[in-house]
Amino acid sequence: MIGIFDSGVGGLTVAKEVQHTLPKYNIIYFGDTARVPYGNRSREIVQQYSLEDANFLLSKGSDVIVIACHTASAQAAKKLRETYPQILIFDVIKEALKRAAAETKNNRIGIIGTRGTISTQIHENLLKKLNPKVEIFTAACPLFVPLVEEGFSSAPETKRIIKKYLRPLKEAKIDTLVLACTHYPLLLKAIKKFFSGKVHIIDPGKETALALKKEIEQNNDLKKKLEGNNAESEFFASDITPNILEISKMILGKEVHFHKANLESFT
Ligand code: DGL
Repeated sequence: MIGIFDSGVGGLTVAKEVQHTLPKYNIIYFGDTARVPYGNRSREIVQQYSLEDANFLLSKGSDVIVIACHTASAQAAKKLRETYPQILIFDVIKEALKRAAAETKNNRIGIIGTRGTISTQIHENLLKKLNPKVEIFTAACPLFVPLVEEGFSSAPETKRIIKKYLRPLKEAKIDTLVLACTHYPLLLKAIKKFFSGKVHIIDPGKETALALKKEIEQNNDLKKKLEGNNAESEFFASDITPNILEISKMILGKEVHFHKANLESFT
């Protein structure tokens, strides 16, 4: 099984891309809805929660793990790889940056995410390694997640906040923007419009799904394991919150059934 975890249901944007790119394979999704958000928490806590999330996915038979959450990718991917050296772990950062470095024409790239993600400066550090000439402009956009979750993706209020957060990036004349948060693909239309369609926007979920596909094509062992599993895709959450179905429907375009994951069993 392809295991995917996120701090909540936003990671379904990544699950959607994985299902679209790899329709033959089943996924097991875990959203830590009891402890969301991760974006404002300390590194220590994000690492602890991410380890527990990965434990849960492994206990359910995941053969590979995708960290859909950008905050967890930025703060805990290294720790997870050290803890589980035998498991292939994809984050949502590396492939998106490779694409950004390949797409930019003027070497001016914008990165937007939660405070927790932006504060790590992981994107700057990795991008500089990929292309030392690149200039990076970052912005934390903490209000985007609640706006999306409240169904305000195309509301006038959201347009105003987009303007406020992204104006410095527009003024910096970026030509490429990485949406480094699970929820931001739902703001794609509004963000595109703000940049008058002139900025190349990278959705890390898409890039990660393509990288996973490439790995499966080249890794016979993993391919066999994934093909040998006929179980249906399953969705778990640490809390079945009142709006879980609404948000998942907004992202996936259809309702999915969430099972309650028992936190005590894997913490
Ligand atoms: N999933 C988080 C991310 O991509 C956003 C929500 C949160 O703060 O937990 O960074």
